[in-house]
Amino acid sequence: MTAAVDVIAAKRDGRSLDDDAITWMLRAYDRGEVADEQMSALLMAVFFNGLSARELRTWTATMIDSGERLDLGGLTRPTVDKHSTGGVGDKISLILAPLVAACGAAVPQLSGRGLGHTGGTLDKLETIPGWRATLTNAEVRDQLESVGAVICAAGAGLAPIDRKLYALRDVTGTVESIPLIASSIMSKKIAEGTGALVLDVKVGRGAFIKDHDRALELAATMVALGRDHGLATVAQLTNMDAPLGQTIGNAIEVAESIEVLRGGGPSDVRALTLALARTMLELTGLDVDPAERLDDGSAYEVYRAMIAAQGGDPDAALETSGLVSVVVAPRAGVVQRVDALDVGVAAWRLGAGRARKEDPVSAGAGVRCLVVAGDEVEVGQPLFELYADDEVHLERGRTTICDAVIIGDEPLDAAPLLFERIG
Ligand code: URA
Repeated sequence: MTAAVDVIAAKRDGRSLDDDAITWMLRAYDRGEVADEQMSALLMAVFFNGLSARELRTWTATMIDSGERLDLGGLTRPTVDKHSTGGVGDKISLILAPLVAACGAAVPQLSGRGLGHTGGTLDKLETIPGWRATLTNAEVRDQLESVGAVICAAGAGLAPIDRKLYALRDVTGTVESIPLIASSIMSKKIAEGTGALVLDVKVGRGAFIKDHDRALELAATMVALGRDHGLATVAQLTNMDAPLGQTIGNAIEVAESIEVLRGGGPSDVRALTLALARTMLELTGLDVDPAERLDDGSAYEVYRAMIAAQGGDPDAALETSGLVSVVVAPRAGVVQRVDALDVGVAAWRLGAGRARKEDPVSAGAGVRCLVVAGDEVEVGQPLFELYADDEVHLERGRTTICDAVIIGDEPLDAAPLLFERIG
């Protein structure tokens, strides 16, 4: 007979937990037999003392077993997914999923909504009239077979204990723990049933993890967990000091994604999409050049089919908020920094993001960045366009964004987009 207090005390004292103790504790918590305060204490003990590779494997396996596993076996195409730890202006999934499908793979992107200063892929796609985020498992399979790409809401049945644990971590200061983040992300991705996975681990000012070494540790932990569960996994560390692309918001990011799918758009969005696509294709063994599929229009055709298959009208006009404000350079010089965190928080305050998970988001609110680090600017030159649905939100966004750009006198080289690859 295991007692929760013994499991908590063992982890508090830095001892390792045996597999039975981990499985018992998590299952009992899921059944409501271990109280929130006891699970909170265990999470805090894990936060300080960590989990060994074996403990983490068992912890993650128990989370996966708390729900269903999608069966994607038997599809005619190899399956591969991408997960990003979240960034500002990160619209890559909207382009990447149809692009990799156009290269011959099947991409099951089961996604979430945004919280705080990073946006959610579903919030962006929901600005397309008619588009539906919720699909049944059978619909996911059918669409993977017919179109090759699905972006939809992760069903409540995948690793359901994660929802309870995440809500508890959120209110107990235990979100920023590498084993807890790794098990949370990987349990959902393994349960999703993809055959291969590329992790875009963001690091920098606008990322969930700001420290490079910690991002490396998270990446290595997730890659090891994926491989332990038979999932071909690679992680790519990428720069999130500045926003990705020019646009941050919902509909405005869909519009920019379409530009990239039609062969144009900002060079950083295109470059990162192609780099991640090449890694995904490498894992599936498909020898195709994704740049060709972007430039010949085939990725855009898959995008249109993917949107239409989920009830969306790919030709419908996208919303823009009615109020626009332009922020100008206070002095001449060279842009030293466009701060992803400040821009992300500004977009959120303009109405594009939510503070609580039940809050609505504005389709048309957001930020358009008109400069990047290294650009020379004149005094009075426009730096940002802000869009909001009302004056209150517009003023909140304006107040936040005024510190987002630093202008100096030194010339500046472009910062790298990609850092290390793990796995
Ligand atoms: N994203 C998740 O899904 N889980 C975490 O713990 C952190 C980020």
